[in-house]
Amino acid sequence: MSDDIILDVQNVTKQFPGITALSDVSIQFKRGEIHGLCGENGAGKSTLMKILAGVYPYGTYDGTVLYEGQELKLINSSIQQARAQGIAIVYQELTLVPDMTVGENVFLGKEKTENGVINWSKTYSETQKILNHYKLDVNPRDVVKHLGVGKMQMVEIAKALSESAKILILDEPTSALTEAEIDKLMEILRSLKEKGITCIYISHKLEEFFRITDSITVLRDGKTVTTQPTRDLSLEKLVKYMVGREMKERFPPRMRKPDGLLFEVQNLKAVDPEEPSKKILNGVSFDLRKGEILGIAGLMGSGRTELVTTIFGEYGRITDGKISLEGKEIKIGSAKEALQYGISLVPEDRKKQGLVLMQTILNNLSLPNLHNFSTTWRINKNQELKSCMQQVKNLSIKISNIENKVDSLSGGNQQKVVIGKWLMTVPKVLIMDDPTRGVDVGAKYEIYKLMNELAEKGVSIIMISSELEEVLGMSDRVMVMHEGQSNGTLDISEATQEKIMALATGIA
Ligand SMILES: Nc1ncnc2c1ncn2[C@@H]1O[C@H](COP(=O)(O)OP(=O)(O)OP(=O)(O)O)[C@@H](O)[C@H]1O
Ligand SMILES: [Mg+2]
Repeated sequence: MSDDIILDVQNVTKQFPGITALSDVSIQFKRGEIHGLCGENGAGKSTLMKILAGVYPYGTYDGTVLYEGQELKLINSSIQQARAQGIAIVYQELTLVPDMTVGENVFLGKEKTENGVINWSKTYSETQKILNHYKLDVNPRDVVKHLGVGKMQMVEIAKALSESAKILILDEPTSALTEAEIDKLMEILRSLKEKGITCIYISHKLEEFFRITDSITVLRDGKTVTTQPTRDLSLEKLVKYMVGREMKERFPPRMRKPDGLLFEVQNLKAVDPEEPSKKILNGVSFDLRKGEILGIAGLMGSGRTELVTTIFGEYGRITDGKISLEGKEIKIGSAKEALQYGISLVPEDRKKQGLVLMQTILNNLSLPNLHNFSTTWRINKNQELKSCMQQVKNLSIKISNIENKVDSLSGGNQQKVVIGKWLMTVPKVLIMDDPTRGVDVGAKYEIYKLMNELAEKGVSIIMISSELEEVLGMSDRVMVMHEGQSNGTLDISEATQEKIMALATGIA
């Protein structure tokens, strides 16, 4: 084995009941390279990374992993052990403790103690050092739950880097980040590379591979399809390796004709209900036609999620402005009332709001749709199963049994369940907060198709998205938010990435 191979994965196979997550996978990772790992939802990416990080310990998989020439033998789900050996992982799902400060989180499990007592000033000064070193703009004393998702992600990275890592694994680090934050992350990765750290990088935003990686491995159905230097690949080739066929278009054609005013928000102002001095919306106005898809763009913190959760009756206390549906003013006091008006929300954070992880896939899909399957007395089980299986098929959700628990699915497949269940309802207004986050290219297309079909049926859709391409590919109009206000609405015929960014940053 040559010296510059730091990690050599040889013929690794990993089984779960009823499913082979990895089948005879071999990949070589070079010292100091940024190695991209891509593949469809359920391809096995996270599973392989969990083996490297010791989550699935030695003996629970077949095959061999050589790390610096020696067989890697991590035992007892010992993530700590992997860390101590220099393999650090930032998981796909955030793992910070929300009620603790940034510093407490960074040193969780390896507290700075002196004579058995935690040295807080040292904890915070060390945290500050790490944050400074990687130019992360976060205060060590901030409580994590008050940070946005983007900053949380930065803290996760700081936490992983707080030990001298030789290999840093990032499992979809940018799925919740905005453009500016992604730029910053790329900068951090480049500086790590200069220090000789190897980075394994997973993402569904395929463009990123071409910005940052040196080589790319594609997995499909648990098998390695290819490993190639990034310069030999193109986006088209990569997609073809991933999905196994040519994919010409990223967005389905638009056939709908939005018509007639359906929903209107006028000068909406709101404050944080727990902290009424904190303004979250400073005057948002927009309207929505029947059968229209309205994209909402904006930077993180611009108030996009706050806007939709406030409309949905879940978050902000409205201090001014008005919401009307079909020409009548409505007051929405809770999510339940919103649903009664025919307004649904696909939430941003699937773990917190979208899924009941301990329930089966079937139950999760049918939960908001039970009335469709019930007669006066009982639920028509056959009908329920049939509709849900159809949805699994529509979105190609990768499952082995629909009665399995949702938390056995890969991240992207969980997201498809969240979306699938709301796409089965036929609301008047469907609000989707970053619907395709973590979803692979092929499945994104299927979701877009279902969105278009709903819009053609007359459902009006509000779609928040951080991906400008998606906003441009799917919307009829784009509203851009800036500092809690609507800073302008563009018709799709005049919208460009530059114009949206100008409005989002407040330049325009
Ligand atoms: N704990 C588990 N129990 C049962 N099956 C599992 C478990 N973890 C993963 N799987 C299955 O293994 C396969 C690979 O999942 P994995 O999470 O590695 O996919 P992934 O490539 O990371 O996908 P994504 O892009 O959606 O994150 C999937 O079919 C998944 O359902
Ligand atoms: Mg994954």
